[in-house]
Parts: sequence; C-alpha cells; structure tokens
Amino acid sequence: MNEWFEREKASHVQFYMRQPVVFVKGEGCWLYDAEGKKYLDMVAGIAAVATGHCHPELVARVSEQMRKLVHTSNLYYTTPQILLAEKLKEITGMDKFFFCNSGTEAVEAALKIARKVTGKKKFVAFSGSFHGRTMGALSVTWKERFRKPFEPLIQPVEFAEYNSIESLEKKIDESTAAVILELVQGEAGVYPADREFVKEIFRLRDKYNFLVIFDEVQTGFGRTGKWFAKDHYGVKPDVMTMAKAMGSGFPIGGVGVREEVAEKLEAGDHASTFGGNPLACAASLATIDIIEKERLVENSEKVGRHLREMLEELGSVEEVRGMGLMVGARVENAFKVVSKCLEKGLLVNAPAENTLRFVPPLIINEDEVDFAVNVLSLVI
Ligand SMILES: Cc1ncc(COP(=O)(O)O)c(C=O)c1O
Repeated sequence: MNEWFEREKASHVQFYMRQPVVFVKGEGCWLYDAEGKKYLDMVAGIAAVATGHCHPELVARVSEQMRKLVHTSNLYYTTPQILLAEKLKEITGMDKFFFCNSGTEAVEAALKIARKVTGKKKFVAFSGSFHGRTMGALSVTWKERFRKPFEPLIQPVEFAEYNSIESLEKKIDESTAAVILELVQGEAGVYPADREFVKEIFRLRDKYNFLVIFDEVQTGFGRTGKWFAKDHYGVKPDVMTMAKAMGSGFPIGGVGVREEVAEKLEAGDHASTFGGNPLACAASLATIDIIEKERLVENSEKVGRHLREMLEELGSVEEVRGMGLMVGARVENAFKVVSKCLEKGLLVNAPAENTLRFVPPLIINEDEVDFAVNVLSLVI
C-alpha cells in the first residue's frame, strides 16, 4: 500500500491526516484493504454508511436510477426528488424541503433562510459545535483552529456555553436571527444536550422571535436510536439540516423547514445545480426504505445500548456517553488506540485526544460489537 501513500502525497493537497490504509471493497459492516485484510468498520464514513457498505437493495436501486436518469438540474421537475420530500415529511415531521449535496451546504442554506425569514443578522452557536467548513458553517463552528485562518467570517456570531441556560440568555437579544445547535454534539466527542436547556431555547425563541436550527447532519436517520435526535426531546425546530446517512454514503444533504418559514422564501433566494438530483434522491429513498424494512432505528437503539454496556465494563474506559449507535468514550491516548485497533482489524475514530467515537453502520449486530470491544480490551 506504500506506493499509494506516495502517489497520494504527490498528487493531493495535504488537508487530511489519513490512517495508513487503502480500502478497495466494502460489504455490510466490513471493509477490505488493498492487500485483502478485513476490518470491522465502526466509523461508517463518519456516521454516513447507515445501511452498511454496498447494501444490495441500495446498489440495485441506484443502478436502476443510473440507467434511467442521472441529472437534469432544478430547472425541471423530477420524480425522485418529489417522492423524497414526501417521505421526509413523514419521517421528520418538517413541512417543506430543499436539497443540496453535503452537511455544510445544508447549514449554509439554513443560515441564509434564517436571515431572509427574520430580517435579522446575528447567529448564536455553542462551545464545542461543528457545523462544517464553508464560510457560513465555519462561522458558527467553535474550534478557533478551524476558523482563525479564514477570518473575517460571517458576523455577528456569538458562542454560548453548550448546556448553559445562563450563558445562552446573555447572548440572545432582539437582533438574533437564529440559534443553531447539535442535539448531540458529534465532532466534540458525543455530548447530548440537556432537556431543560433545549426547552429554554424554545422559550427564548417565543420571546425574541428567532429561528431554532437543529443541525441533524450527524444525528439523523436513526443514528441516535430514534429517526432524528429531536424525537428524543419532543420538539420541532423551525429549520433542520440533514446529510451524512441520508444517502448511506451517496452524497446528499437537505434542509427541512416549517410551513411558516417556507412561506417567506421565494424563487431565487437559494439554489443548487446538483442538489436533489434523481440519482442522489434514489439513494436516499432506498436508504430510508431499508432503514424501515430492516428496523434499523430499533437496531440502533438496541445494539447501541449493548455497545455502551460493554464499553462500561472495560476498566480502561473512563466514561461512556451517547444515544443509540452514536457513542463516545473517554480513554487515554485515543489517537494511539485508533492506530492499534487498525492493526488488529478494527476501525474507530478519535475526534479528540481523549475521546473515541463509535458510529458504525446501523445494521451492526451484537456479535460484531463484541468483536470490537474485545479488540479494544486488548489494546487499551
Ligand atoms: C453536525 C454536523 N454538521 C455539519 C457537518 C458538515 O458536514 P459535511 O462534512 O458533509 O459538509 C458535520 C460533519 O461532520 C456535522 O457533524
């Protein structure tokens, strides 16, 4: 595989710190490298490959769509896009949809919608947040390391402390266009929002008339053991972003809005050439059907609980957090643990030096979880 590493280095901008492995094939929860070695995938393309690698139904339906119609642009109507919006209405409870190609694009759209609809400018985001790398999404992303080199970004943006009602109250005022948050912070290391905190956001919204944006890019489509993380909290945001698992690895993103929000948006406010093209929508429709047929939301809840219990039994793991199959664990030297796991045929991710994150395909079973925890017990 060394030759591939050299060739990548010679031909790519070095934005990524990649693990030293070249993957050539995937099947279910397993990936195969260029030398035929097999790995259990507890990363799933960063919470994206919901139905597992190359699910036969996904492959068949995307192939069928590929033979029929790939792309027309949004100058015209296409049926998969309409069918997808109707299906999302059913599973998200949101009223109207816009489609794009990634999480960061979904956040860009959400921020533009908030400014257009409220006529106000300020965004309030939270410590630990991650919303993407394009200029708008980056502006509401917490880590200075990501933001600093690209300033000036969108302004005004204020960061309140995550899960602190007191801190939030200080940042909100009449000029607030939107509050944007992840109900379970993913990149920060899997930190769920408190119920009372979420309730307070809605109380403030009713007082100051801003929009609440839930960024469900990482938490959506069964990841947390419910269809969407918001379903744990029993609230409906004004705007919701989605991507990652939406196409089970096929690039597609989207924004869902309330009817009152949609009514204030008009032609020309926003657009995308590829967003919601027939191929991407076919992938998303197939993903949702598979999640329903194979009861993967329930599997996420059940196997996620098993994973958390097994991790808690490991003496070397200091804290286990999360919901469903979105699990974070505090360990020492997480980056080293990731490398050792890789050697032993297990893929895990470390978003921070003391945190392991597990976001496997939603089809994972308890035996596979036991394999992962056994590897961890050997390397930690
Ligand atoms: C909550 C959240 N929002 C937005 C994004 C950005 O998504 P993308 O990488 O598809 O642009 C991510 C990616 O990790 C995310 O976790």
